[in-house]
Amino acid sequence: MIKPDAMRKNLIGEILKRAEDAGFKIVDLKVGKFSLTQARKFYQVHQEKSFFEKLVKFVSSGKVVGVLLTRRNAVKKLRKLVGATDPKEAKRGTIRRDFATNVTKNAVHASDSAQSFRYESKFFF
Ligand code: CMP
Repeated sequence: MIKPDAMRKNLIGEILKRAEDAGFKIVDLKVGKFSLTQARKFYQVHQEKSFFEKLVKFVSSGKVVGVLLTRRNAVKKLRKLVGATDPKEAKRGTIRRDFATNVTKNAVHASDSAQSFRYESKFFF
């Protein structure tokens, strides 16, 4: 998912190009906007965390793009391309290192397992 900070910075094309250049095929795309309730549901695994409210407020603050990608070993490969959650810790050349503002405004979200992919993709497709 491309998050509101990257949308505001006009980074959709750049981010999709990184995915395509890394061998992913784009299967589907959807622009949407989360309500606070939907954002809370999307991020429900984090509901006990101190940053939860800040996160849901931010992710529902503007439009997002749901991106359905395919390739072999997709979850692992995409997380490598995206980089660490905190851009300060992300390796050079990763999407977050190059495009994120901070740990909340970190440009993109990528599913961390097949199970979370199944849950998260339903919000868009
Ligand atoms: P994301 O990959 O979308 O999954 C959960 C999000 O919670 C994460 O990216 C960050 O944007 C956010 N997050 C994780 N840890 C922190 C933190 N310590 N402070 C603020 N936000 C965080």
